[in-house]
Amino acid sequence: MNQKTGYAQSRNLKKYLQIILLPIVFLYSFAAPGQAILEGDRSVPVEAKNGMVVTSHTLATKEALKVLKEGGNAVDAAVTAAFALAVTQPRSGNIGGGGFMLISLEKTGEVLAIDYREKAPAAATRDMFLDKSGNVDKNLSRYSHLSSGVPGTVAGLALALEKYGTISLQKALAPAIKLADNGFIVTPRFSKGIKSREKHLKKWASSRNVFFKSNGKHYEPGDRFVQKDLADTLKRISKLGVAGFYTGKTAELIVAEMKKHGGLITKRDLAEYRPEIRKPVHGTYRGHDIYSMTTPSSGGIHIIQMLNILEGYPINSLGLNSAQTIHYMAEAMTRAYADRSKFLGDSDFVKVPISGLISKEYAAGLRKGITMNKASSSKDILPGKPPGYESNETTHFSVADNKGIAVSNTYTINFSYGSRIVVEGAGFLLNNEMDDFSAKPGVPNAYGLLGGEANKIEANKRMLSSMSPTIVKKNGKNFLVTGSPGGSRIITTTLQVIMNVIDHKLNIQAAVNAPRIHHQWLPDEIRIEQGISPDTIRLLEGMGHKVVKKSAMGAIQSIMIAPDGTFYGGADPRRSTSSAMGL
Ligand code: GLY
Repeated sequence: MNQKTGYAQSRNLKKYLQIILLPIVFLYSFAAPGQAILEGDRSVPVEAKNGMVVTSHTLATKEALKVLKEGGNAVDAAVTAAFALAVTQPRSGNIGGGGFMLISLEKTGEVLAIDYREKAPAAATRDMFLDKSGNVDKNLSRYSHLSSGVPGTVAGLALALEKYGTISLQKALAPAIKLADNGFIVTPRFSKGIKSREKHLKKWASSRNVFFKSNGKHYEPGDRFVQKDLADTLKRISKLGVAGFYTGKTAELIVAEMKKHGGLITKRDLAEYRPEIRKPVHGTYRGHDIYSMTTPSSGGIHIIQMLNILEGYPINSLGLNSAQTIHYMAEAMTRAYADRSKFLGDSDFVKVPISGLISKEYAAGLRKGITMNKASSSKDILPGKPPGYESNETTHFSVADNKGIAVSNTYTINFSYGSRIVVEGAGFLLNNEMDDFSAKPGVPNAYGLLGGEANKIEANKRMLSSMSPTIVKKNGKNFLVTGSPGGSRIITTTLQVIMNVIDHKLNIQAAVNAPRIHHQWLPDEIRIEQGISPDTIRLLEGMGHKVVKKSAMGAIQSIMIAPDGTFYGGADPRRSTSSAMGL
């Protein structure tokens, strides 16, 4: 078994860049197939012959890999990883949130998406987050019981397993139950994460009891973290299936929590929650087939839209992160995010012009408005007219097996630790996904994203997402499995890893490591990570771009599968607990 765990500090790209720039040839000499790669090295991918798991937590990666080793398929391993992350990484791994899972079945050529995004409760109303003066009350939309959508994770994972897996729900839950019951050793990232949200988490007795010791002290690295209530909730799901979450005791605990604190989720909302199987959006890019999440995510649509625009430029010869490449990427990004603000919402409720937005013709039209050496101003860019026209903490994992199945899964409770509210007695955090709706057209959400009528709050509607689990196929074979957390940056992060692999021919680890940029129309600026050269920044500023350096973006856990069937795993060094393991 090849394995790699790392300790690189998140938000400090300097070190990764030094690693990239170290003589890669020298490192490759240590990374021959079958050999363990240097512990903590993040400059070369993990290489394996029979399958690969890449998640943001080593314990989840290990449990999922065991499933593959015992003959389970990628869906079995993915569901096992998702439940394990709900225990080991409570800031984003969850059973109180929702997400999207893309599954590619090479044998039949089918690629499908399981949509287990949260839904607005039936009692939700358009103006529920507006105060008396008509302003958005951010505390209500982000940190109250009203901020939670009806969770979809348990139903979505169970559906994935039932339809495409081979193991029982009990088996997939067993490692998570053990990790919750017996506890696990706290990492520095875990401890720091809770300290960074201490104020909010201590506001609620139920959250305080889970995330702090009985004397109120912090869990420090090396301590054991046990979650008995969560273990009991997971055991109810193990015994009763989805009914163990959506009805009976767990549902009663959720509804009691809502009633006590003015939340809206009812027993009926829970009992009626259903995940959907959807057709992913499909596009092409330089001879590759791109499959990604459709509505209620905006992610896949805009990734394909941006790739269509960028296909018109010789990105490879312009070079990775050159000023010219970044200029074209930023111009494509700003146009895509402008369209997002107007057209995107839950297509079960509103008509989204998906085929127009992802058409090559529409992209060609948008490209005509892009000048070679002058930045467009966001003021001058309005949402376009696609044919057919009459929206920081999440976690992604990728799994691929030797049966031709690949799984790309992103799920979330929205912010780190979601609403920060633990359901009393049930031991899990509730999402604050209602903030992903457009609480008031023209007022940005927590990610600075503007939304319009299409994403207004409506009863039972799914809030718009940016999550973009993506699978790229080449010649009918699974080629790249990728996706990221990062709020509004998810879409552009995923875009860049696709381009780094297809245009710049980087190995998957280098593609994941490379410094990223982001433009989301408004604010009118290119956000960059550390590592873009000052010369490049000067050139971009000369074209009229505003360039701002901010913290690292995304945590893109990716797999590339070579034509000979070798799996390459690239864990994102921006999360210190990320890990890629193969067998
Ligand atoms: N909550 C972030 C997203 O779904 O895009």
